[in-house]
Amino acid sequence: MRRSTSANRGSERRGSKAGSVLIQGIRAAPVSAGCVSWRTRFTLPLQISGIVSLRPGLLYILLLRSWSIRTPVVKTIIEPFRIKSVEPIRRTTAQERQRLLEQAGYNLFLISSEAILIDLLTDSGTAAMSTEQWAAMMRGDESYAGSPSFERFRAAVQNIFGFRHIIPTHQGRAAERILFSVICRKDSIVPNNTHFDTTRANIEFCGARALDLPIAEAHQPSLLHPFKGNMDTSRLEELIEREGRERVPLVMLTVTNNSGGGQPVSMSNIRAVKEICSRRGIPLYIDACRFAENAYFIKLRERGYADKTPLEIAREMFSHADGCTMSAKKDGLANIGGFLGTHDDSLAQQEKNLLILTEGFPTYGGLAGRDLEAIAVGLNEALDEDYLSYRIASTAYLGDHISREGVPIVQPPGGHAIYIDARAFLPQIPPAQFPGVALAAALYVEGGIRSVEIGTLMFGEHATMDLVRLAIPRRVYTQSHIDYVVEVILEVWRRRAEIRGFEIAYQAPFLRHFTARFRPVLSRAEPKTPFVSSPRRTKPDPAES
Ligand SMILES: Cc1ncc(COP(=O)(O)O)c(C=O)c1O
Repeated sequence: MRRSTSANRGSERRGSKAGSVLIQGIRAAPVSAGCVSWRTRFTLPLQISGIVSLRPGLLYILLLRSWSIRTPVVKTIIEPFRIKSVEPIRRTTAQERQRLLEQAGYNLFLISSEAILIDLLTDSGTAAMSTEQWAAMMRGDESYAGSPSFERFRAAVQNIFGFRHIIPTHQGRAAERILFSVICRKDSIVPNNTHFDTTRANIEFCGARALDLPIAEAHQPSLLHPFKGNMDTSRLEELIEREGRERVPLVMLTVTNNSGGGQPVSMSNIRAVKEICSRRGIPLYIDACRFAENAYFIKLRERGYADKTPLEIAREMFSHADGCTMSAKKDGLANIGGFLGTHDDSLAQQEKNLLILTEGFPTYGGLAGRDLEAIAVGLNEALDEDYLSYRIASTAYLGDHISREGVPIVQPPGGHAIYIDARAFLPQIPPAQFPGVALAAALYVEGGIRSVEIGTLMFGEHATMDLVRLAIPRRVYTQSHIDYVVEVILEVWRRRAEIRGFEIAYQAPFLRHFTARFRPVLSRAEPKTPFVSSPRRTKPDPAES
């Protein structure tokens, strides 16, 4: 289903025997769809030559034949599943969408999902569960205390993450709130490569400061770097020297770095950050939401990991950490759930006490037994190599198809999402007028696609970029859905000069992007709507005919 792109074929040509290519001098694997490992091509004939001892001419013919038999001709990476249950999606007209958007104050969070055609708002909690997960859910034991479902959940989590204490929570932010309430003081500073919005908000809610320390390359959307999610270790060291170890109760690394473009963190960066922390007795926590995608990027791009399984790589990642927060709604392939992991007995006790107060007993932590079962199975499915290769290739497919037409995106494509650089897409709109909000609104009006702004609205003064994230739910959409998304984006790209900015009509004191309402910034001469689909569309919308 996924076509081998010309860029991808170029990557293969540039590949080394280790099955990797160079991105601006740094070894990285081809991230495009349809890639074939060089290892397959070269090692098989050599193995045959090792066991056949014949005259050179005959051997040559045999090698040629084995080559033609064994060379993988079909390069298409397919969805590694078939569909058993379908959920209809509804088309609306552009006029309907314009009206719904106005009613929602131009905030896509406030639109009913029934009026969305392709929902790329988030990859969180939106995965399609497998037959094994549904089967496991039937085994769910709903006992208040001591449920065997918890035992299975804990065993699955410990097998991958290795922490002594596993504390279930209803989702990632509950784990964050409990951790920061226990560990942070009012003058604390928590460094991260980039804090996700809920992480930042939970730290700030405790009166502490959340500080982003990504590498400099992370601020340049078009720059290629294999591990753009890395933390700037020099700045981390400087910070700890300047502020004092006592003010830094923990250091966090978000894998992959969601707010920084879904970019991975390398194993060597995890090791380097851990080394800095260890010297000063500061615990390192990993925000583990997309740990499997990060592990697969390490396999593809980091020297020494090509032959390791994603499970082995994930175990190594967490062997460097003292704890983690996890939203199982991402690489847990579950619709709800999360957990907190730690090796620290006394911290775990305090966290469980708080958990009982706000989430539930430590053997369910705000989840049903069946949710614990779904996560236990999902965590392992997320580490399956066929799944990960399809996952990374399908995200890159969207990125490659729009960027080759000039649409500015964060490069290289991330694991779970494509991030359009809204400042470069809409240079006529200053950050204070929310270019990301304007672009997300235009994509909805044009084609019923829901995306999300990650920029000035979400992070206020901390925003260094204005991005529109198109997050791909796991195992949900097929290639034709993504082809449709490509077509809509390119149509909006062609008409980008017509798009205008917004100003805020209402905002909440925390996490304002969820509930904010806007009004268009219009000059008197302009039409009333900031972006209305025009009849110049390339293909007719069947719902309008
Ligand atoms: C990196 C990161 N951390 C934390 C969270 C919060 O998880 P949850 O939505 O389960 O509360 C998210 C959610 O998207 C995330 O992407």
